[in-house]
Amino acid sequence: MNITIIGSGYVGLVTGTCLAEVGNHVLCLDVDPAKIATLQQGGIPIYEPGLEDMVRRNVAAGRLSFSTDIAAAVAFGEIQFIAVGTPPDEDGSADLQYVLAAARNIGLHMTEPKVVVDKSTVPVGTADKVKAQIAATLAERGADIAFSVVSNPEFLKEGAAIEDFMKPDRIVVGAEDERAIELMRRLYAPFQRNHDRILFMDVRSAELTKYAANAMLATRISFMNELANLAEDLGADIELVRRGIGSDPRIGYHFLYPGAGYGGSCFPKDVKALVASGREQGHAMRVLTAVEEANEAQKRRLVDKLVKRFGEDLQGRHFAIWGLAFKPNTDDMREASSRVIVAELARRGATVAAYDPVAAEEARRVMGDTPGLGFADDMMAALQGADALLIVTEWKMFRAPDFDAIKASLKQPVIIDGRNMYDPAWLRELGFDYQAIGR
Ligand code: NAI
Repeated sequence: MNITIIGSGYVGLVTGTCLAEVGNHVLCLDVDPAKIATLQQGGIPIYEPGLEDMVRRNVAAGRLSFSTDIAAAVAFGEIQFIAVGTPPDEDGSADLQYVLAAARNIGLHMTEPKVVVDKSTVPVGTADKVKAQIAATLAERGADIAFSVVSNPEFLKEGAAIEDFMKPDRIVVGAEDERAIELMRRLYAPFQRNHDRILFMDVRSAELTKYAANAMLATRISFMNELANLAEDLGADIELVRRGIGSDPRIGYHFLYPGAGYGGSCFPKDVKALVASGREQGHAMRVLTAVEEANEAQKRRLVDKLVKRFGEDLQGRHFAIWGLAFKPNTDDMREASSRVIVAELARRGATVAAYDPVAAEEARRVMGDTPGLGFADDMMAALQGADALLIVTEWKMFRAPDFDAIKASLKQPVIIDGRNMYDPAWLRELGFDYQAIGR
């Protein structure tokens, strides 16, 4: 099949590359000429394990290409994926301007029937808006061409995006006409494993499914964070509690890890957007409002612990931070807890030496001008003369460090661990003031 992907960010690039990998011809479009130039020159604008090789292989095979030419891109694919950003508006609702701009471009340039697929995470009712936008644009041109709009939200996780796309748990497709359903069935046939992974449903249910999934996961995290904070005061160990409840199959072990708050491009904005959708319908969405509030507080948790240890005024203090990305295996800094922590430390007059194996460049771009923030070239160099080490992202390389060397580098043997990387009893035996989350 010939497929066009509109928007070549995380989701668009991974979707396009994986669809090419199974034999389709894919053209990825973006309005950002720098991004397309990088891709055309064989570079990858994001860090995603396995993606670079897969892009190269498919470009070499002539199945994958990149363009900024909107008319050519719309002409190319019988399926047009919309995978542009849907950032939060001022009131938290999803800003649909990029989605609707993409829809308008499709309407302006299509000359034969198309199936338009909303891949972006969009509020319920967006497929109708996309449909209306394309229809209005066609009418402006006096053109009468058939098209349908399908909802196909994406569930990939950054850091494991290729694996998630190639071996999905499920593929949600909201489609209401037979031709589109048949086309989607053919498109996703190569990704079926031992049983049918496609869940066909109506468009509105598909749109809501994506938000429901992210909101449920965010809820689990905020719940565990709150429980962890309570466990600290009660003298319980959240890690043992986690195992104790996870063994109940109704609860399960996944996604029960407390930490320094959730971030990234999806959970924060999708929770906000679902709250906004609720508000529009007259529903207070009390649970999700609390989930978000708890997360905002949790992002400051490590600083709260520092303040407890060193006092309110951190003027003249120097801290090391390990990990800046919102989670390991990505360079994504969107809504990362490290941003809140660094800003709060700067506000209190402390200086920071930060290290991240992959996200340092992106971190420089988004918060490089924060007063007192410096970047270290390796994890041990970050520790020199620091009053404490804060661990914000659980990169594998931080799992088994040389604790003697850490102790020798730090001014004081204090580790504030936002990701529960180490055994508290052992660290205390080694002479550290070790503070984790909920232990
Ligand atoms: P992104 O910001 O990485 O990529 C979006 C791309 O679209 C950018 O390169 C931008 O230049 C381009 N763009 C904007 N308007 C355009 C237009 N009119 N024509 C062509 N290109 C245009 O965003 P990301 O992370 O890929 O997210 C895209 C959507 O997928 C969002 O709705 C997001 O919520 C959703 N999503 C993201 C996931 C993630 O892990 N990043 C996972 C699942 C869904």
